[in-house]
Order: sequence, then structure tokens, then C-alpha cells
Amino acid sequence: MTHLSGDTVPISSRPPLVVAMTGASGAPYAARLIEVLLGAGRDIELVISPAAAQVWADELDVRLDPERFDPDSFLAALGSRRLASSDPPVPRSAATQLRYRQIMDWHAGIASGTFLTDGMVICPCSMSTLGAIAGGLSTNLIQRAADVHLKERRRLVLVPRETPLNLIQLENMTRCMQAGATLLPAMPGWYHRPESLVDLIDFVVGRICDQLQVPHRLLRRWGSDPAGSSGD
Ligand SMILES: Cc1cc2nc3c(=O)[nH]c(=O)nc-3n(C[C@H](O)[C@H](O)[C@H](O)COP(=O)(O)O)c2cc1C
Repeated sequence: MTHLSGDTVPISSRPPLVVAMTGASGAPYAARLIEVLLGAGRDIELVISPAAAQVWADELDVRLDPERFDPDSFLAALGSRRLASSDPPVPRSAATQLRYRQIMDWHAGIASGTFLTDGMVICPCSMSTLGAIAGGLSTNLIQRAADVHLKERRRLVLVPRETPLNLIQLENMTRCMQAGATLLPAMPGWYHRPESLVDLIDFVVGRICDQLQVPHRLLRRWGSDPAGSSGD
């Protein structure tokens, strides 16, 4: 009988979540998602496409430099751009939970299935990245890490944003879904009676956290509201 005790490793903490941001509209969703995941104590492997940096400048007035990313200034920028959330800001010490990987860094662990993760989310996911994943291109680290998550049968959550959609985009979504991804479009519901932008953002971020199995109180769950409202 093989004795495995020397080869086994005790489970200590959960492996990191991969968070990738691409150049679709919706930077506030990504900003809030990172805030919530760090607040939940999760480690993040973060990748940012050059187009995502452009969108952050356009939508949040935050300058990200994908070549020289600094977790401390990123958290400071997140803190300064917070919408009217009642949560306390993420402490600067959370910078240690954030590991940044450059988009062409093929030596990054997440380029390989041997590097364990707890799943991956691309938020927001551009139609360009969606098409590349559907086509199995792996021409950058975001596409490669997504490909790895599909082949390893790990959670991959794609948060596309585009409207209206053409047939190619719909077929790419179908293809990614057939390969195992969860398609979670940035489409907030209205049945929870949102009163602010934060309510709308938190609806989408809450649904992403549900998929990643990260506990949260970002949205009111159907069945827990005596006033009643419907949806899924
Ligand atoms: C302000 C801004 C908003 C954009 N919004 C979208 C969008 O909502 N959906 C989308 O698919 N592409 C959008 N684009 C275009 C993508 O950024 C572009 O296709 C880019 O090549 C995506 O590259 P990436 O997937 O590597 O990030 C937007 C670009 C800019 C600058």
C-alpha cells in the first residue's frame, strides 16, 4: 500500500480568486467587486488589459498603469472613488491580498493548471475577450487563464457588457457556456427597488459573489423580503 502522508498537504486557506478586468464598459462593477472580495478576506490574482485601464480613466477618472501597477495606490484610488456605500473602505493592509500579474506575463502561475485557484471572474468582459475565449486563442494572460479554468473544469464567470448583441457575440457566449463558463451579464434587476447606483452595482456584484461562493449581504434575497418583489 502506498503511504501518502509525506505527500499530502493540510488545507490551510482557500486558494486565490483570479479577477481580470477587460475593456468593456462597467469599471464601477470591477472596482466594487475587488473591494468586496478583499473585504471578505480573499486573495486575488489581478490582471488588467490595456483597454480596461482606458475605461477606468473614462468612467472612474482613475489612472491605472498596467506596466507599473502599484497595489497601494490602486487601493487608495478605490477609496477615493467610492460611491455612496455604507461599508467601511478597504484597509490599505489589504494590498497584501492583491497580487498583480502583467497581461503578457507567461510565467505567472495562473497561466498553468498546476497553479490552484478558487475560480476566475472576468468583470467586465469585453466582446473581444469573450470572442478570444470562445475561439481558444490564449493570446494574453487573461485569455490563457480563462482557457485554463475551462480545461481544469474550475469556475469561470464572464460578465459581458454590450448592447445590442450581434449573432457572433451570442454564439461566442453560447460556446463559452457550453465549455463550462457561467455567463453573468452586467444586467441589474429592478425588483429589489434600487434607490442608488450602489444598489444597482451591488446587485450585479452580489450575483458574481454567489457564483464564486463568497458570502455577502449585497442584495436582498427573494423570499426574505416581506414586502414582496419578484425575479431571479
Ligand atoms: C470607454 C470605452 C467603453 C467600451 N465599452 C465596451 C463595451 O461595453 N463592450 C465591449 O465589448 N467593448 C467595449 N469597448 C471596446 C473594447 O475596449 C475593445 O474592443 C478592446 O479591444 C477590448 O480589449 P480587451 O478585451 O483586451 O480589454 C469600450 C472601449 C472604451 C474605450
